Amino acid sequence: IRVLSVASEMFPFVKTGGLGDVVGSLPAALRTEGVLVTTLLPGYPAVLDALEGPVRVATMAPLPGVEIALLEGYAAGHHLLVIDCPHLFRRKGNPYLAPDGTDWPDNGVRFACLSRVAASIAQGKVEGQAAGLRPDLVMAHDWQAGLTGAYLHYDGQPAAPVVQTIHNLAFQGRFPVTDLERFGLPPHAFTIDGVECYGEIGFLKAGLLFAARIVTVSPTYAREIQSPEWGMGLDGLLRTRADQLRGILNGIDTNDWNPETDPAVLFPYQVGDVVGRRPNKRAFQAEFGLPQDPDVFLLGLVSRLTGQKGVDILADIVPRILDDRTQLVVVGSGDVAMERALARLARQYPDRLACHIGYSEQLGHRIQASADSLLLPSRFEPCGLTQLCAVRYGCVPIAARVGGLADTIIDANEAAMASDVATGFLFSPVDGETLAGAIRRAATLYRQPGRWAGLQRNGARYDVSWGRKAKEYARLFRRVLGRAEIGMA
Ligand code: ADP
Ligand code: GLC
Repeated sequence: IRVLSVASEMFPFVKTGGLGDVVGSLPAALRTEGVLVTTLLPGYPAVLDALEGPVRVATMAPLPGVEIALLEGYAAGHHLLVIDCPHLFRRKGNPYLAPDGTDWPDNGVRFACLSRVAASIAQGKVEGQAAGLRPDLVMAHDWQAGLTGAYLHYDGQPAAPVVQTIHNLAFQGRFPVTDLERFGLPPHAFTIDGVECYGEIGFLKAGLLFAARIVTVSPTYAREIQSPEWGMGLDGLLRTRADQLRGILNGIDTNDWNPETDPAVLFPYQVGDVVGRRPNKRAFQAEFGLPQDPDVFLLGLVSRLTGQKGVDILADIVPRILDDRTQLVVVGSGDVAMERALARLARQYPDRLACHIGYSEQLGHRIQASADSLLLPSRFEPCGLTQLCAVRYGCVPIAARVGGLADTIIDANEAAMASDVATGFLFSPVDGETLAGAIRRAATLYRQPGRWAGLQRNGARYDVSWGRKAKEYARLFRRVLGRAEIGMA
Protein backbone atom coordinates (compact mmCIF):
# COMPACT_ATOMS: atom_id res chain seq x y z
CA ILE A 1 0.00 0.00 0.00
CA ARG A 2 1.32 3.44 -0.91
CA VAL A 3 0.34 6.22 1.43
CA LEU A 4 0.77 9.95 1.03
CA SER A 5 1.14 11.46 4.50
CA VAL A 6 0.33 15.18 4.45
CA ALA A 7 1.64 17.22 7.35
CA SER A 8 2.81 20.64 8.48
CA GLU A 9 5.70 19.35 10.60
CA MET A 10 7.99 16.34 10.77
CA PHE A 11 10.79 15.40 13.13
CA PRO A 12 13.80 15.77 12.71
CA PHE A 13 13.27 18.71 10.34
CA VAL A 14 10.59 20.86 11.94
CA LYS A 15 8.78 20.06 15.17
CA THR A 16 6.62 22.01 17.59
CA GLY A 17 5.13 19.03 19.42
CA GLY A 18 3.95 15.46 19.20
CA LEU A 19 2.54 15.86 15.68
CA GLY A 20 6.09 16.22 14.37
CA ASP A 21 7.22 13.15 16.31
CA VAL A 22 4.39 11.01 14.98
CA VAL A 23 4.76 12.12 11.36
CA GLY A 24 8.49 11.40 11.64
CA SER A 25 8.34 8.01 13.34
CA LEU A 26 5.26 6.29 11.91
CA PRO A 27 6.63 5.69 8.36
CA ALA A 28 9.41 3.32 9.46
CA ALA A 29 6.94 1.31 11.55
CA LEU A 30 4.45 1.13 8.68
CA ARG A 31 7.10 -0.12 6.29
CA THR A 32 7.32 -3.40 8.23
CA GLU A 33 3.58 -3.77 7.61
CA GLY A 34 3.99 -3.38 3.87
CA VAL A 35 2.87 0.26 3.82
CA LEU A 36 5.19 2.64 1.98
CA VAL A 37 4.87 6.25 3.06
CA THR A 38 5.73 9.39 1.11
CA THR A 39 5.40 12.56 3.16
CA LEU A 40 4.27 15.85 1.63
CA LEU A 41 5.71 18.85 3.49
CA PRO A 42 5.85 22.61 3.03
CA GLY A 43 9.28 23.78 1.88
CA TYR A 44 10.46 25.43 5.08
CA PRO A 45 14.20 26.26 5.03
CA ALA A 46 15.00 23.33 7.35
CA VAL A 47 13.21 20.90 5.04
CA LEU A 48 14.82 22.24 1.84
CA ASP A 49 18.25 22.10 3.49
CA ALA A 50 17.77 18.48 4.51
CA LEU A 51 16.61 17.29 1.09
CA GLU A 52 19.23 15.14 -0.67
CA GLY A 53 19.35 15.24 -4.45
CA PRO A 54 16.00 16.98 -4.91
CA VAL A 55 14.39 16.66 -8.33
CA ARG A 56 11.68 18.98 -9.55
CA VAL A 57 8.77 16.75 -10.55
CA ALA A 58 6.14 19.38 -11.26
CA THR A 59 5.33 23.05 -11.33
CA MET A 60 1.79 24.13 -10.71
CA ALA A 61 -0.49 26.95 -9.66
CA PRO A 62 -2.51 25.27 -6.90
CA LEU A 63 -4.33 28.44 -5.80
CA PRO A 64 -5.05 31.77 -7.49
CA GLY A 65 -1.80 33.72 -7.58
CA VAL A 66 0.28 30.95 -6.01
CA GLU A 67 2.91 29.13 -8.04
CA ILE A 68 4.94 26.27 -6.68
CA ALA A 69 7.55 23.73 -7.66
CA LEU A 70 7.14 20.24 -6.29
CA LEU A 71 10.43 18.62 -5.30
CA GLU A 72 10.97 14.91 -4.77
CA GLY A 73 13.86 13.60 -2.72
CA TYR A 74 15.05 11.82 0.39
CA ALA A 75 15.99 13.16 3.80
CA ALA A 76 16.90 11.24 6.95
CA GLY A 77 15.72 8.07 5.22
CA HIS A 78 12.28 9.48 4.38
CA HIS A 79 10.79 9.74 0.90
CA LEU A 80 9.57 13.32 0.68
CA LEU A 81 7.61 15.58 -1.62
CA VAL A 82 8.28 19.19 -0.80
CA ILE A 83 6.35 22.27 -1.88
CA ASP A 84 8.86 24.90 -2.86
CA CYS A 85 7.11 28.25 -2.66
CA PRO A 86 9.44 30.87 -1.20
CA HIS A 87 6.82 33.50 -0.47
CA LEU A 88 4.68 31.08 1.55
CA PHE A 89 7.18 28.79 3.24
CA ARG A 90 10.74 30.08 3.24
CA ARG A 91 10.49 31.43 6.75
CA LYS A 92 12.74 30.29 9.54
CA GLY A 93 11.66 29.23 13.02
CA ASN A 94 8.22 28.15 14.13
CA PRO A 95 6.13 26.90 11.18
CA TYR A 96 2.96 28.64 12.34
CA LEU A 97 4.06 31.74 14.21
CA ALA A 98 5.80 34.98 13.31
CA PRO A 99 8.72 36.02 15.52
CA ASP A 100 6.35 38.14 17.63
CA GLY A 101 4.42 34.98 18.58
CA THR A 102 1.26 35.66 16.57
CA ASP A 103 -0.03 33.43 13.75
CA TRP A 104 1.35 34.23 10.32
CA PRO A 105 -1.46 36.28 8.71
CA ASP A 106 -1.45 34.05 5.61
CA ASN A 107 -1.67 30.68 7.39
CA GLY A 108 -4.96 30.02 5.60
CA VAL A 109 -3.39 30.26 2.15
CA ARG A 110 -0.24 28.44 3.26
CA PHE A 111 -2.08 25.33 4.41
CA ALA A 112 -4.80 25.51 1.77
CA CYS A 113 -1.86 25.28 -0.63
CA LEU A 114 -0.54 22.20 1.20
CA SER A 115 -3.96 20.53 1.00
CA ARG A 116 -4.54 21.53 -2.64
CA VAL A 117 -1.22 20.04 -3.73
CA ALA A 118 -2.02 16.87 -1.73
CA ALA A 119 -5.35 16.59 -3.56
CA SER A 120 -3.67 16.90 -6.96
CA ILE A 121 -1.20 14.16 -6.05
CA ALA A 122 -4.09 12.00 -4.81
CA GLN A 123 -5.71 12.45 -8.24
CA GLY A 124 -2.60 11.08 -9.91
CA LYS A 125 -1.71 14.38 -11.58
CA VAL A 126 1.96 14.25 -10.62
CA GLU A 127 4.58 11.96 -12.16
CA GLY A 128 7.58 11.18 -9.98
CA GLN A 129 11.14 10.28 -10.93
CA ALA A 130 10.58 6.55 -11.05
CA ALA A 131 6.85 6.25 -11.56
CA GLY A 132 3.55 7.99 -10.98
CA LEU A 133 3.23 9.34 -7.48
CA ARG A 134 -0.46 8.57 -7.12
CA PRO A 135 -0.92 6.99 -3.68
CA ASP A 136 -3.48 4.34 -2.77
CA LEU A 137 -4.52 6.38 0.25
CA VAL A 138 -3.93 9.80 1.80
CA MET A 139 -3.31 10.38 5.50
CA ALA A 140 -4.21 13.99 6.27
CA HIS A 141 -2.82 15.19 9.60
CA ASP A 142 -4.71 17.83 11.58
CA TRP A 143 -6.32 21.01 10.26
CA GLN A 144 -3.38 21.97 8.09
CA ALA A 145 -4.19 19.05 5.76
CA GLY A 146 -7.93 19.25 6.38
CA LEU A 147 -9.01 20.77 3.07
CA THR A 148 -7.56 17.83 1.10
CA GLY A 149 -10.83 15.91 1.31
CA ALA A 150 -12.84 19.01 0.39
CA TYR A 151 -10.85 19.68 -2.79
CA LEU A 152 -11.28 16.06 -3.84
CA HIS A 153 -15.00 16.21 -3.14
CA TYR A 154 -15.62 19.39 -5.16
CA ASP A 155 -13.34 18.29 -8.01
CA GLY A 156 -15.34 15.08 -8.29
CA GLN A 157 -12.55 13.19 -10.05
CA PRO A 158 -11.33 9.71 -9.15
CA ALA A 159 -8.75 9.92 -6.38
CA ALA A 160 -7.23 8.05 -3.46
CA PRO A 161 -9.42 7.99 -0.31
CA VAL A 162 -8.50 10.20 2.64
CA VAL A 163 -8.02 9.17 6.26
CA GLN A 164 -8.19 12.32 8.37
CA THR A 165 -6.17 12.17 11.59
CA ILE A 166 -7.01 14.35 14.59
CA HIS A 167 -4.00 15.04 16.77
CA ASN A 168 -5.67 17.92 18.55
CA LEU A 169 -9.24 19.14 18.09
CA ALA A 170 -8.39 22.44 19.77
CA PHE A 171 -6.69 23.65 16.60
CA GLN A 172 -9.28 23.78 13.84
CA GLY A 173 -8.00 26.19 11.20
CA ARG A 174 -10.89 28.66 10.90
CA PHE A 175 -10.78 31.49 8.38
CA PRO A 176 -13.23 34.13 7.17
CA VAL A 177 -15.65 33.32 4.38
CA THR A 178 -14.10 36.10 2.30
CA ASP A 179 -11.10 33.77 1.79
CA LEU A 180 -13.17 31.19 -0.13
CA GLU A 181 -11.87 32.32 -3.52
CA ARG A 182 -8.26 32.62 -2.37
CA PHE A 183 -8.54 29.01 -1.19
CA GLY A 184 -9.81 27.97 -4.61
CA LEU A 185 -13.12 26.70 -3.26
CA PRO A 186 -16.41 27.12 -5.16
CA PRO A 187 -19.08 29.38 -3.60
CA HIS A 188 -21.45 26.45 -3.12
CA ALA A 189 -18.88 24.82 -0.81
CA PHE A 190 -19.86 27.28 1.90
CA THR A 191 -22.74 25.35 3.48
CA ILE A 192 -23.24 23.25 6.56
CA ASP A 193 -22.75 20.17 4.36
CA GLY A 194 -19.50 21.65 3.13
CA VAL A 195 -16.64 23.68 4.56
CA GLU A 196 -18.81 26.09 6.59
CA CYS A 197 -18.13 25.96 10.32
CA TYR A 198 -19.94 28.39 12.63
CA GLY A 199 -19.98 31.10 9.96
CA GLU A 200 -16.35 30.62 8.92
CA ILE A 201 -14.36 28.25 6.71
CA GLY A 202 -13.30 25.30 8.87
CA PHE A 203 -10.35 23.28 7.59
CA LEU A 204 -10.57 20.50 10.16
CA LYS A 205 -14.35 20.44 9.98
CA ALA A 206 -14.09 19.85 6.23
CA GLY A 207 -11.54 17.12 6.82
CA LEU A 208 -13.86 15.33 9.24
CA LEU A 209 -16.80 15.64 6.90
CA PHE A 210 -15.20 14.43 3.69
CA ALA A 211 -12.74 11.80 4.93
CA ALA A 212 -13.40 8.12 4.25
CA ARG A 213 -12.29 7.42 7.82
CA ILE A 214 -11.31 9.50 10.85
CA VAL A 215 -8.55 8.46 13.22
CA THR A 216 -7.58 10.09 16.45
CA VAL A 217 -4.68 9.22 18.68
CA SER A 218 -6.28 7.33 21.57
CA PRO A 219 -9.51 5.39 22.16
CA THR A 220 -10.49 7.55 25.15
CA TYR A 221 -10.01 10.79 23.20
CA ALA A 222 -12.10 9.27 20.39
CA ARG A 223 -14.95 8.97 22.90
CA GLU A 224 -14.33 12.30 24.66
CA ILE A 225 -14.55 14.36 21.46
CA GLN A 226 -18.04 13.03 20.78
CA SER A 227 -19.24 14.85 23.90
CA PRO A 228 -20.17 18.55 24.00
CA GLU A 229 -17.63 19.09 26.77
CA TRP A 230 -14.60 18.09 24.67
CA GLY A 231 -15.97 18.21 21.13
CA MET A 232 -15.01 21.88 20.71
CA GLY A 233 -18.10 22.47 18.61
CA LEU A 234 -17.51 19.48 16.34
CA ASP A 235 -18.97 16.78 18.61
CA GLY A 236 -22.23 16.68 16.64
CA LEU A 237 -20.43 16.02 13.38
CA LEU A 238 -18.19 13.46 15.09
CA ARG A 239 -21.23 11.66 16.51
CA THR A 240 -22.77 11.37 13.07
CA ARG A 241 -19.50 9.86 11.87
CA ALA A 242 -18.95 7.66 14.92
CA ASP A 243 -18.89 4.48 12.82
CA GLN A 244 -15.98 5.82 10.80
CA LEU A 245 -14.09 7.25 13.79
CA ARG A 246 -11.59 5.35 15.88
CA GLY A 247 -8.70 5.85 18.23
CA ILE A 248 -5.30 4.33 17.59
CA LEU A 249 -2.64 5.08 20.20
CA ASN A 250 0.64 6.70 19.27
CA GLY A 251 3.97 4.98 19.72
CA ILE A 252 7.46 6.41 20.04
CA ASP A 253 10.66 5.64 18.18
CA THR A 254 12.38 3.21 20.53
CA ASN A 255 15.74 3.77 18.82
CA ASP A 256 15.66 7.50 19.50
CA TRP A 257 14.28 6.79 22.96
CA ASN A 258 16.79 4.29 24.29
CA PRO A 259 18.58 5.32 27.51
CA GLU A 260 21.51 3.07 26.61
CA THR A 261 22.36 4.91 23.40
CA ASP A 262 20.64 8.29 23.83
CA PRO A 263 23.39 10.94 23.45
CA ALA A 264 21.50 13.26 25.82
CA VAL A 265 21.76 10.75 28.67
CA LEU A 266 24.97 11.42 30.61
CA PHE A 267 25.07 8.06 32.39
CA PRO A 268 23.63 5.49 29.97
CA TYR A 269 21.63 2.58 31.37
CA GLN A 270 19.47 -0.24 30.10
CA VAL A 271 15.68 0.05 30.00
CA GLY A 272 14.49 -1.23 33.39
CA ASP A 273 17.83 -0.71 35.17
CA VAL A 274 16.58 1.43 38.05
CA VAL A 275 19.97 1.51 39.77
CA GLY A 276 21.94 2.36 36.65
CA ARG A 277 19.87 5.48 36.03
CA ARG A 278 20.54 7.02 39.46
CA PRO A 279 23.71 9.02 38.65
CA ASN A 280 21.68 10.96 36.08
CA LYS A 281 19.54 12.53 38.79
CA ARG A 282 22.52 13.94 40.64
CA ALA A 283 24.05 15.38 37.46
CA PHE A 284 20.71 16.88 36.48
CA GLN A 285 20.27 18.54 39.87
CA ALA A 286 23.74 20.00 39.44
CA GLU A 287 22.98 21.15 35.89
CA PHE A 288 19.96 23.05 37.19
CA GLY A 289 21.72 24.42 40.27
CA LEU A 290 19.56 22.46 42.71
CA PRO A 291 20.91 20.78 45.86
CA GLN A 292 22.28 17.36 44.83
CA ASP A 293 20.33 15.20 47.18
CA PRO A 294 19.47 11.67 46.02
CA ASP A 295 16.64 11.39 48.56
CA VAL A 296 14.74 14.44 47.41
CA PHE A 297 11.67 13.59 45.28
CA LEU A 298 12.54 15.16 41.92
CA LEU A 299 9.55 16.09 39.78
CA GLY A 300 9.83 17.04 36.11
CA LEU A 301 7.67 18.81 33.55
CA VAL A 302 8.48 18.91 29.83
CA SER A 303 5.74 20.49 27.82
CA ARG A 304 4.34 23.25 25.76
CA LEU A 305 3.29 25.77 28.41
CA THR A 306 -0.41 26.14 27.62
CA GLY A 307 -3.80 25.82 29.22
CA GLN A 308 -4.26 22.40 27.58
CA LYS A 309 -1.29 21.12 29.57
CA GLY A 310 -2.64 22.45 32.89
CA VAL A 311 0.57 24.34 33.60
CA ASP A 312 -1.40 27.06 35.41
CA ILE A 313 -2.95 24.42 37.68
CA LEU A 314 0.54 23.28 38.60
CA ALA A 315 1.91 26.81 39.06
CA ASP A 316 -0.92 27.57 41.52
CA ILE A 317 0.04 24.74 43.85
CA VAL A 318 3.83 25.03 43.61
CA PRO A 319 4.13 26.70 47.05
CA ARG A 320 2.19 23.80 48.54
CA ILE A 321 4.03 20.89 46.96
CA LEU A 322 7.63 22.07 47.12
CA ASP A 323 8.82 21.22 50.63
CA ASP A 324 12.44 20.55 51.54
CA ARG A 325 12.12 16.98 50.28
CA THR A 326 10.66 17.86 46.86
CA GLN A 327 12.17 19.59 43.83
CA LEU A 328 10.72 20.49 40.44
CA VAL A 329 12.45 21.06 37.10
CA VAL A 330 10.50 22.59 34.22
CA VAL A 331 11.53 22.46 30.56
CA GLY A 332 9.02 24.26 28.42
CA SER A 333 7.93 27.23 26.39
CA GLY A 334 4.71 28.71 25.14
CA ASP A 335 2.24 31.07 26.75
CA VAL A 336 4.21 34.13 27.85
CA ALA A 337 2.22 34.66 31.06
CA MET A 338 2.90 31.05 32.08
CA GLU A 339 6.59 31.36 31.24
CA ARG A 340 6.80 34.45 33.46
CA ALA A 341 4.86 32.87 36.32
CA LEU A 342 7.21 29.89 36.37
CA ALA A 343 10.31 32.05 36.17
CA ARG A 344 8.99 34.10 39.08
CA LEU A 345 8.40 30.96 41.15
CA ALA A 346 11.91 29.74 40.33
CA ARG A 347 13.31 32.98 41.76
CA GLN A 348 11.12 32.57 44.82
CA TYR A 349 12.18 28.95 45.47
CA PRO A 350 15.75 28.80 44.12
CA ASP A 351 16.57 25.55 45.96
CA ARG A 352 13.43 23.74 44.93
CA LEU A 353 12.37 24.88 41.48
CA ALA A 354 14.45 25.39 38.34
CA CYS A 355 13.24 26.24 34.83
CA HIS A 356 14.57 26.07 31.33
CA ILE A 357 12.20 28.32 29.42
CA GLY A 358 12.71 27.38 25.79
CA TYR A 359 12.74 24.40 23.52
CA SER A 360 15.56 21.91 24.03
CA GLU A 361 15.39 18.45 22.52
CA GLN A 362 18.39 17.46 24.66
CA LEU A 363 16.88 18.53 27.98
CA GLY A 364 13.61 16.97 26.89
CA HIS A 365 15.43 13.64 26.80
CA ARG A 366 17.65 14.18 29.82
CA ILE A 367 14.78 15.06 32.15
CA GLN A 368 13.25 11.63 31.44
CA ALA A 369 16.45 9.89 32.51
CA SER A 370 16.82 12.03 35.64
CA ALA A 371 13.54 12.99 37.29
CA ASP A 372 11.75 10.56 39.62
CA SER A 373 8.32 11.56 38.34
CA LEU A 374 6.93 13.38 35.34
CA LEU A 375 3.94 15.70 35.85
CA LEU A 376 1.14 15.73 33.26
CA PRO A 377 -1.75 17.78 34.63
CA SER A 378 -3.37 18.13 31.17
CA ARG A 379 -6.98 19.33 30.99
CA PHE A 380 -7.27 17.21 27.85
CA GLU A 381 -4.68 15.09 26.08
CA PRO A 382 -5.38 13.42 22.74
CA CYS A 383 -2.55 10.96 23.31
CA GLY A 384 0.56 12.47 24.84
CA LEU A 385 4.02 11.14 24.11
CA THR A 386 6.07 12.24 27.09
CA GLN A 387 4.43 9.73 29.45
CA LEU A 388 5.52 6.99 27.02
CA CYS A 389 9.11 8.24 27.05
CA ALA A 390 8.88 8.53 30.84
CA VAL A 391 7.88 4.94 31.58
CA ARG A 392 10.55 3.68 29.21
CA TYR A 393 13.21 5.73 31.02
CA GLY A 394 12.14 4.81 34.57
CA CYS A 395 10.45 8.13 35.32
CA VAL A 396 7.05 7.50 36.90
CA PRO A 397 4.21 9.62 35.43
CA ILE A 398 1.71 11.53 37.59
CA ALA A 399 -1.05 12.39 35.14
CA ALA A 400 -4.59 13.63 34.67
CA ARG A 401 -7.01 10.80 33.91
CA VAL A 402 -7.91 12.09 30.44
CA GLY A 403 -7.50 10.99 26.82
CA GLY A 404 -4.39 9.02 25.98
CA LEU A 405 -2.99 9.44 29.49
CA ALA A 406 -5.85 7.33 30.87
CA ASP A 407 -5.19 4.76 28.13
CA THR A 408 -1.44 4.39 28.64
CA ILE A 409 -0.91 4.65 32.42
CA ILE A 410 -2.08 2.15 35.04
CA ASP A 411 -2.81 3.90 38.33
CA ALA A 412 -1.02 2.67 41.44
CA ASN A 413 -4.19 1.88 43.35
CA GLU A 414 -4.22 -1.01 45.81
CA ALA A 415 -5.46 -3.60 43.34
CA ALA A 416 -2.92 -2.66 40.69
CA MET A 417 -0.13 -2.60 43.26
CA ALA A 418 -1.17 -6.01 44.55
CA SER A 419 -1.10 -7.45 41.03
CA ASP A 420 2.15 -5.63 40.28
CA VAL A 421 0.90 -3.93 37.12
CA ALA A 422 0.83 -0.23 38.14
CA THR A 423 2.94 2.19 36.10
CA GLY A 424 2.03 5.63 37.48
CA PHE A 425 -0.53 7.86 39.16
CA LEU A 426 -3.78 9.14 37.66
CA PHE A 427 -6.02 11.82 39.13
CA SER A 428 -9.43 13.29 38.35
CA PRO A 429 -11.21 15.64 38.14
CA VAL A 430 -8.29 17.77 37.01
CA ASP A 431 -7.64 20.51 39.55
CA GLY A 432 -5.02 21.66 42.04
CA GLU A 433 -6.43 19.58 44.89
CA THR A 434 -6.35 16.29 43.00
CA LEU A 435 -2.95 17.06 41.47
CA ALA A 436 -1.49 17.82 44.90
CA GLY A 437 -3.12 14.65 46.23
CA ALA A 438 -1.55 12.54 43.48
CA ILE A 439 1.86 14.06 44.14
CA ARG A 440 1.47 13.23 47.86
CA ARG A 441 0.47 9.68 46.98
CA ALA A 442 3.51 9.33 44.73
CA ALA A 443 5.85 10.85 47.34
CA THR A 444 4.68 8.30 49.89
CA LEU A 445 5.49 5.41 47.56
CA TYR A 446 8.76 7.04 46.59
CA ARG A 447 9.79 6.69 50.25
CA GLN A 448 9.34 2.92 49.89
CA PRO A 449 12.15 2.12 47.44
CA GLY A 450 11.14 -1.48 46.76
CA ARG A 451 7.62 -0.57 45.75
CA TRP A 452 8.81 2.43 43.73
CA ALA A 453 11.27 0.26 41.79
CA GLY A 454 8.32 -2.04 41.05
CA LEU A 455 6.47 0.85 39.40
CA GLN A 456 9.55 1.71 37.37
CA ARG A 457 10.02 -1.87 36.21
CA ASN A 458 6.37 -2.26 35.26
CA GLY A 459 6.66 0.93 33.21
CA ALA A 460 9.77 -0.34 31.46
CA ARG A 461 7.87 -3.47 30.42
CA TYR A 462 4.97 -1.51 28.92
CA ASP A 463 5.08 -1.55 25.12
CA VAL A 464 5.54 2.05 23.96
CA SER A 465 6.73 1.12 20.47
CA TRP A 466 4.83 1.61 17.22
CA GLY A 467 4.66 -2.16 16.62
CA ARG A 468 1.05 -3.02 17.45
CA LYS A 469 -0.26 0.43 16.54
CA ALA A 470 1.29 0.32 13.08
CA LYS A 471 -0.47 -3.02 12.56
CA GLU A 472 -3.76 -1.35 13.47
CA TYR A 473 -3.14 1.41 10.94
CA ALA A 474 -2.25 -1.12 8.25
CA ARG A 475 -5.41 -3.08 8.98
CA LEU A 476 -7.49 0.10 8.79
CA PHE A 477 -5.91 1.10 5.48
CA ARG A 478 -6.63 -2.36 4.01
CA ARG A 479 -10.22 -2.13 5.11
CA VAL A 480 -10.63 1.33 3.54
CA LEU A 481 -9.17 -0.01 0.32
CA GLY A 482 -11.37 -3.07 0.47
CA ARG A 483 -8.41 -5.41 0.46
CA ALA A 484 -8.39 -8.82 2.07
CA GLU A 485 -6.73 -8.85 5.44
CA ILE A 486 -3.92 -11.30 5.52
CA GLY A 487 -3.93 -13.55 8.55
CA MET A 488 -7.17 -12.13 9.92
CA ALA A 489 -10.24 -14.18 10.70
P1 ADP B 1 1.88 18.02 22.28
O1 ADP B 1 2.02 17.52 20.92
O2 ADP B 1 0.48 18.30 22.67
O3 ADP B 1 2.77 19.15 22.58
P2 ADP B 1 3.03 15.44 23.05
O4 ADP B 1 3.27 14.85 24.39
O5 ADP B 1 2.33 14.61 22.07
O6 ADP B 1 2.30 16.83 23.29
O7 ADP B 1 4.42 15.78 22.35
C1 ADP B 1 5.27 16.77 22.81
C2 ADP B 1 6.65 16.53 22.26
O8 ADP B 1 7.39 17.74 22.30
C3 ADP B 1 7.45 15.53 23.07
O9 ADP B 1 8.38 14.89 22.22
C4 ADP B 1 8.16 16.44 24.09
O10 ADP B 1 9.31 15.88 24.62
C5 ADP B 1 8.46 17.63 23.22
N1 ADP B 1 8.57 18.92 23.92
C6 ADP B 1 7.59 19.75 24.31
N2 ADP B 1 8.09 20.88 24.85
C7 ADP B 1 9.43 20.77 24.80
C8 ADP B 1 10.53 21.60 25.18
N3 ADP B 1 10.34 22.79 25.73
N4 ADP B 1 11.77 21.16 24.95
C9 ADP B 1 11.97 19.95 24.38
N5 ADP B 1 11.00 19.11 24.00
C10 ADP B 1 9.73 19.51 24.19
C1 GLC C 1 -1.17 16.63 19.72
C2 GLC C 1 -1.69 16.27 21.10
C3 GLC C 1 -0.90 15.18 21.78
C4 GLC C 1 -0.53 14.07 20.82
C5 GLC C 1 0.17 14.65 19.62
C6 GLC C 1 0.57 13.58 18.60
O1 GLC C 1 -0.25 17.65 19.72
O2 GLC C 1 -1.80 17.40 21.92
O3 GLC C 1 -1.64 14.65 22.87
O4 GLC C 1 0.30 13.12 21.46
O5 GLC C 1 -0.68 15.54 18.96
O6 GLC C 1 -0.52 12.82 18.16
